[in-house]
Amino acid sequence: MTDHDRLTELATRRGFYFPAAGAYGGVAGFYTYGPQGAALKRNVESAWRDRFLTREDHMEVAGPTVMPEPVFEASGHLDGFDDMILECPGCGASHRADHLVEDNTDIEDAEALGTERVAELIAEHDLECPSCGAVLAGESVTAFNLMFGTNIGPGSSAPGYLRPETAQAIFVEFPRLAEYARNQLPFGVGQIGTAYRNEISPRRGLIRVREFTQAELEHFVHPEGAPPDLSGVAETSLSLYPIDSQQARSAEHVETTVGEALEAGVIGSPWIAYYLGIAKEWYEHVGVDMDRFRFRQHLPGERAHYATDCWDAEAELGGNWIEISGFSTRGTYDLSRHADHSGESMTVFEPYEKPQTTERPAVDPDMSYLGPEFGDRAPEVVAALKERAAEEPEAFDGEEIEVTIDGETHAIPMAITGFEIREETISGEHVTPEVIEPSFGVDRVFATVFEHAFRRDSVEGEERTYLSLPPELAPTFVGVFPLMDKDGMGERAKEIADALRERGFAVEYDDSGSIGRRYRRQDEIGTPLCLTVDYESVEGDGSVTLRDRDSAAQSRVPAGEDLDRLLEALADLRAGRQTVAAIKEELGLETVAGDEDPIDAGAE
Ligand code: GLY
Repeated sequence: MTDHDRLTELATRRGFYFPAAGAYGGVAGFYTYGPQGAALKRNVESAWRDRFLTREDHMEVAGPTVMPEPVFEASGHLDGFDDMILECPGCGASHRADHLVEDNTDIEDAEALGTERVAELIAEHDLECPSCGAVLAGESVTAFNLMFGTNIGPGSSAPGYLRPETAQAIFVEFPRLAEYARNQLPFGVGQIGTAYRNEISPRRGLIRVREFTQAELEHFVHPEGAPPDLSGVAETSLSLYPIDSQQARSAEHVETTVGEALEAGVIGSPWIAYYLGIAKEWYEHVGVDMDRFRFRQHLPGERAHYATDCWDAEAELGGNWIEISGFSTRGTYDLSRHADHSGESMTVFEPYEKPQTTERPAVDPDMSYLGPEFGDRAPEVVAALKERAAEEPEAFDGEEIEVTIDGETHAIPMAITGFEIREETISGEHVTPEVIEPSFGVDRVFATVFEHAFRRDSVEGEERTYLSLPPELAPTFVGVFPLMDKDGMGERAKEIADALRERGFAVEYDDSGSIGRRYRRQDEIGTPLCLTVDYESVEGDGSVTLRDRDSAAQSRVPAGEDLDRLLEALADLRAGRQTVAAIKEELGLETVAGDEDPIDAGAE
């Protein structure tokens, strides 16, 4: 059994996640999170919200998941949000054509090559259908739109789509959101919510699914505004895989810092550099193994239709590098498109420090002349005069001015044009902000944290598996056990469990099976600590056993004030401000027994 098989088995058995609707045979690309998984996912989302919204002082919104068709005409998803599909002539199975090429050649980014070249490569490499073995050469590769369509209300007059990214629900509300931000750039709006993509071939468990959760931040910045304050992240180390290294087919990563990468031009945008810095620290904080983590720059042909530069955070999962978040410069693309399509202004008014006076050529034609002379074509003459005044004010210095309408030139007496150079005082300008977008796939972060936390070792001669999850993320924070549910031990354990729950901790009370088995159950779901109540706790000095997941070490916590202090200290542990070792040292708790000094059995 590989570690990957062990993890998949653990995910189902312990209630992390499993294929949805199993009673009906399941449907590819949809998963249900079980009780532990739902809690872990919620904790990932809370940790993201805390770091990327609360601590950055950004707003959070929650938009609808179904939106009308015009939204996606404007966003470009209706025309351009496609994957390459190839249908097998033998069994009719649909395949991602670019993945067929990537899986069977050493080409890494076939999507960037376009449908025609991918079809050629399938023929050149004699590729066969993975399902039935039929020859695929000569089969057409076409574009398949990934959006799930629906009808809004009865009938088909109002088509809608399940959003393929949460971002659009932010862009379409820009005018109102800008008001909430008091029309002051920069400001950020985040959203954690479901998005949908009708993937041609869902695969790799939670990695490529049809319904998933995104945590996205749209940071609206002035195109000529000040860069972010990089002082907090300039020294943050980054492992980068830039375009140059990929094109040179080098596997080497550039080990650098945020500050150095910006200075050397490896990262072009200070905003992207800033977010790569805080994302790196956040990933480390939530338990991603930094030896299995990098940022990879998108190749030009790989970028989404709206992006001018993009870096992905990638984690090594099951031996493959997998994108787990993207950091894009979306420019003014989305807001300009929504402004054009909706007619709404998607700008903010930026006042100048001091009002500016400018000179502007203007015309005010005498309609009592133009009306009789040109009839219903008079408005076209007015428009032509305005255009010439704006473009060639110097042409208005003679007795007449010529304008051309539908190829016919007309001489207009200068006296009736009302031409003049007007002085105008302008107090500011309407600016379309640029968008910087850190976009996280919550399910993929979940999958990474889950896999990177997986450990196997041997405790007192017995093999065990456990999840070394950070306390902030662990679905259950403390396991509370009575040695047996008798002689007052059950009651005392329940009192402690209630005291912990009152403090907001996720607690599991368990009184079934041997204590060793109960510890193993909690180890497998990543519970950082367990407290056990025994005869000494109810009949002796009142102390309880504190057992630490990673070291499997056990200490005695004296009753009374020490136990109260421990319960207080757990809040710091949960918030990631304190380690178990530090708490034990502070409370003077010594390891007295247990399954200490586990031997690392290593991964397969
Ligand atoms: N908003 C970026 C993405 O969905 O990929």
